[in-house]
Amino acid sequence: MPKTVIELDEYKRAEQAAGHILSCLAAKPHLGTPKIAVVLGSGLGDFANDLKDSVQIPYEEIPHFPHSTAVGHAGRLVVGKLGQLTVAAMQGRVHQYEGYTAKQASFPMRVFGLMGIKAVILTNAAGGINLAFGQGALVLISDHINLQSANPLIGPNDDRFGPRFPDMTEAYNRKYRRIAVDEAARLGFTLHEGVYAALSGPSYETPAEIRYLRTIGADLVGMSTVPEVIVARHMGITVMAISCVTNMAAGVTDKTINHEEVLEIGRQVRGKFIALLNAVMPRIAENL
Ligand code: HPA
Repeated sequence: MPKTVIELDEYKRAEQAAGHILSCLAAKPHLGTPKIAVVLGSGLGDFANDLKDSVQIPYEEIPHFPHSTAVGHAGRLVVGKLGQLTVAAMQGRVHQYEGYTAKQASFPMRVFGLMGIKAVILTNAAGGINLAFGQGALVLISDHINLQSANPLIGPNDDRFGPRFPDMTEAYNRKYRRIAVDEAARLGFTLHEGVYAALSGPSYETPAEIRYLRTIGADLVGMSTVPEVIVARHMGITVMAISCVTNMAAGVTDKTINHEEVLEIGRQVRGKFIALLNAVMPRIAENL
């Protein structure tokens, strides 16, 4: 007899994943449940190691959670204390170029939403298109252009998650952006702002593609983040996103691009990056 496979819908899968995470957190009740989360991109995962009294959950132990295969992505959820604040940090994410769909890549945002997360800070490594940015610069994403040929909301809409046609006018919260610019200035550096173009990758862009992206208004280019932003906004989670310019995009300089350098620059700006997160998160949390 053929085996009947009953597929759980996305909502049930997200409920199971959220339930598992919350049951792991029950071992340390003083942590409480986090209201703020951060997704740590290529080479930026170290922030989570500084969280105190943390619970660490490998992605493969979380039901239905996608596992990352990319080098530089540890693949675990760390929940711990940043001062008084409880923070959930994803060390690594999955990408479309690994063969995941946009829905799978953004599934962690569904789980966060059902866990009660109200604000998420997404981080990534990106190529710099805007000539005002230098290698190693941190850039606040002010808006995006989705060129990944997919939208994670395609398919039947589950109204429990959010509306069929979510508004994206201010996907990247203006108030949070002001806080980030403010805190960067206090720390003594300029936080640029820019538009992030998301492509599927995994090949880096050609110089002609970068000229095209500049023409249509992109300042940064990368291979992640946008599916997560769309799903987070669908669920009413407030979003902030920061890129680390690990390299100037193809053709901007005469250098070629390689992943090791992307990771290395990520590691080099780690101090500045962690200082910014440490400063920004408590201020965002004031209003949750
Ligand atoms: N292009 C796309 N994604 C990237 C880049 C780039 O130049 N650098 C880091 N991620």
